[in-house]
This record gives sequence, structure tokens and C-alpha cells, in this order.
Amino acid sequence: MAFQQQRLVVVSNRLPAALKKTDDGWEVKAGAGGLVTALAPVLKNRGGVWIGWSGSSDPNLDVDSLLADFSSKAGYDLYTVPLTPEEVDGYYFGFSNEIIWPLFHDLQSRCRFHPRYWRMYLDVNFKFAEMVARKTNSDDYIWIQDYHLMHQAFFLKSMGVKRRTGFFLHIPFPTPDIFMKLPWRWKVIQALTEFDLVGFQTMQDRRNFSACLRRLMPEARVQGRGAVVTMDLGNRQFRLGAFPISIDYNQFSEMAERPEVEQQTFSIKEALRHRKIILGVDRLDYTKGIPERIRSFQTLLRQFPELKGNVNFVQIAVPSREEVDEYKELRTEIEQLVGRVNGEFSFPGWVPVHYHYRSFPHDELVAYYSAADIALVTPLKDGMNLVAKEYCACNTSGDGVLVLSEFAGAAAQLQKDAYLVNPYDMEGIAKALHRCLHWDREERRSHMTHLRDQVRKNNIYWWVDSFLQAGISKTLVDFPEVDT
Ligand code: ADP
Ligand code: G6P
Repeated sequence: MAFQQQRLVVVSNRLPAALKKTDDGWEVKAGAGGLVTALAPVLKNRGGVWIGWSGSSDPNLDVDSLLADFSSKAGYDLYTVPLTPEEVDGYYFGFSNEIIWPLFHDLQSRCRFHPRYWRMYLDVNFKFAEMVARKTNSDDYIWIQDYHLMHQAFFLKSMGVKRRTGFFLHIPFPTPDIFMKLPWRWKVIQALTEFDLVGFQTMQDRRNFSACLRRLMPEARVQGRGAVVTMDLGNRQFRLGAFPISIDYNQFSEMAERPEVEQQTFSIKEALRHRKIILGVDRLDYTKGIPERIRSFQTLLRQFPELKGNVNFVQIAVPSREEVDEYKELRTEIEQLVGRVNGEFSFPGWVPVHYHYRSFPHDELVAYYSAADIALVTPLKDGMNLVAKEYCACNTSGDGVLVLSEFAGAAAQLQKDAYLVNPYDMEGIAKALHRCLHWDREERRSHMTHLRDQVRKNNIYWWVDSFLQAGISKTLVDFPEVDT
């Protein structure tokens, strides 16, 4: 069966719809984060099934009927895996968010390696695999997403369920020095080898994985060249590839050109009195480098006082993992920093930092992207970073500048035309901003045209097709090297 016709079953921890309790009852909201942004248009476009957790662990809630309306509008089936509060605590907050998330982002000192988290992670992975076995058949392509569910192929095989499986890691894969700190390193690597295809965001991530695999399984041999290769373990083989994820370019770019969005863009510029706008947009997460970014803006104003009154920094942060103490502390730290910078520089008629802590409707976010002169995307480490790509797609005037962390996966593809910075180097970022604020129109346009071409060409549909082709085709042909 050709990969275009095969039924696609996406399995991720989080469904594209999340349930949130409000004063009036339960509300169905779009899920937050890059995984959902990227995959929602794919399933909408080709149909299929999405299996995941609803975001609630209330046993009295009729999740399926709450999500029925979302599912029928979206045009694909949703199946929820119910999780108890104890499971959410151990598997999601614990193993996923206190171990794998910090470790894979090179922040090992934030890890809490509790054995209880590991056991709960295995139990919940088993539960997910049972649901996958029940809701799918042997013709389906089962596409597992992200670090919460690395044991899916392992458990499906141990149940004797034969399925074609692919796994895509949305976050970075660390070097052996860091990965080897994981107490369950061998079991995690071994579980990943049970998939037919394992995909990473960049060639560097793929290389890191191969290096860890060879350290733990010295018999492993790579065969082939290019973006997708075969890993030979002696008694069996599986594929490895680099597939940089992307966005629905047309959706963003067309939205930016709608008259009502153009009106919103104009209103934003007018409200900020047509001063230069530097924009940050992130989930509020300690990997995103938001405090460092605010300090860089403070450095800019200190070192180039002529910019006072002529530039605004707008930071839009969507609430994320609010139950976790470190995320609460980060929020406080950011709010204090914003207060400090505004306290230092504001004067009547000008407040330098505008900080928004909430989820924005799609059209408003697009209007902010369109209005911004510079997108300041400075994660300390990031799998890809879709905000960088969304900014380019929305910059229909072609006048904007992307200042991008060299440690974002997106830097591999966009390095020629983005202005790359080290997110820890506050003086370096201030200098980069100063320089970009003074670029002439021709220079800005030339770089933005190339950036937009790159995101348009390598969009989310290209990503899906290249992953599924590598996952399903019998031979590995036509997989050119991707940018590293
Ligand atoms: P991550 O996957 O770590 O969250 P990405 O940059 O890849 O990082 O994806 C973040 C996604 O969240 C983007 O699609 C972005 O548009 C969305 N997003 C970020 N901030 C907001 C916000 N305040 N309101 C709505 N969406 C947001
Ligand atoms: C990143 C991860 C996703 C995750 C998202 C939001 O994009 O790669 O797997 O869904 O962040 O985080 P959350 O913990 O709210 O699902």
C-alpha cells in the first residue's frame, strides 16, 4: 500500500484538544506546543486517528462526549487514554517532565531520577500500547510522537501485536556524556530500537543517538548515507533519519494577509506608536531562555541609550506545566525582571517591555508576528522551534529580521539568513539587536526572502511525506542529506 493511502494513527501524550476546568464547567481548548501545532493540520488534511491523553484525570468526567464535537469538526477520530492522578504524577510530571525533558535539553542538574517515576512511565506506556492494539489494525501506520512514549513498539511487540511503527522525537537527543547519566539508559535505547523507524529533528540529534547506541550496543553498524540510514544490530535492522519538522506555511502566510488580521497588525503598531518592535513568543519554559532574553534587552538599552523611547520588547508567554514548581518559580522570575527593566527605563508615554502571560488566539498571534520588526528567538536548547518558522511565514512584508539561537534545531536549516546568537551571551545579543535594527531594507528583504522560501518549501506536508516514505518504502532511495 502506498504511504499516501495508509491510515495514519498518531499517538502522543497530549491530544490536539485539551480539557480545562473553568468556573462554568469544562472547556475544550486547542492543545499548546509545537507537537500539536505541527500535527493538527496534517490529520485534518488526510484524516486518520489520534490517540492520547485528554489532560484531565477526573474519573467522573465523560471525556469522549466532551471531545466528540471537536473530533467531528476536525475530521479525524480521537481516542483518549484515561490516566489516574497517580499516573499523571509519576509518568507525565515525573518521568517525562523531571527526567527526560531537562536531560535531553542538556540541563541535567534539574533532573530528579526517582525509580517510582520510571515504573509509572512503564505502566502508562503499557496502557497506551493496549489502547493502540485495540483501536488499530495491521494495515495502519502507527506513528508515535515524543519522549513520553518511547516504549510503545517494545510493548506492542511483547503483546504479540504486529504493526508498522515509527517514532519521532520532537526534542533534542543529547550526547553520550549526558545520556549516559540516565539510570535506565540501556532500557530506553533498547526500546527505541524496536521501532521500524526512529526520526530526529536534525542530523546532529541523529548522530548523538547513533553514538549512544554504539556505546551501549557495540554490535550496532550503520549502513547507507544521507538523511535516512539503516542500523544493523546483527539479528535485526531498523531505520534512523533526520526530518526537521515544520509548519503549515500557507495557513500562516494567508492568515497574515487577511484584511481583518492586517487591521490588527496596524492596531498593534499604532498602539506602540510605530516604534520598532522586538518580539518573543514561547511556552513559558526554562529551556526557552526568557530571563536571559529580557536581560539582553536591558543590556541593549544600557549600551545604546539612543534607543530609549524608540523600541519595544514584546514577550508573549503561553502558560505551560503550571503545576510544576520550577515553572511557577520561572514565572515569578520573569515577572520580577520585567518590572525591574520597566522600572529602570520607563518614562511618560513609553514602557519598554510589554509582557503577556496567556494563550493568544491564532489571528492575534499572527498579527503580532506581522507587526514585529525583529523576532528574538533565543532558546537555551530546542528540538526545532516552530515560532522561528511561524515568524517567517507571517512576515509577508518581507521586512523582518529573525535573530535565532544557535542551539535551536531550526538554526541548522535557517543559519544562512537568520542572525545567529548564543542565548547565554547577553552582550552579544544586544550587539546583534543593535546591528539588525540598523540593517537597511534591501539587506532585510534579501534575508527574509530566503528564509520564507526555505520554510515554504520544507513545510509540514513535506515533513510528513518524507517521514512516511522512509517508514514505509521498501528501499531507501532519494533521501538527500538535510542541513545539519
Ligand atoms: P515547543 O514545542 O517547545 O512549545 P515551539 O516553538 O516549537 O516550542 O512551538 C510552540 C508553539 O506554541 C507554536 O506553534 C506557537 O505558535 C505556540 N504559542 C507560543 N506562545 C503562544 C501563545 N501565547 N498563544 C498561543 N500560542 C502560542
Ligand atoms: C513540547 C513537547 C510536546 C509537548 C509540548 C507542550 O512541544 O515536544 O510533546 O506536548 O511541548 O508541553 P505539555 O507538557 O503541555 O504537553
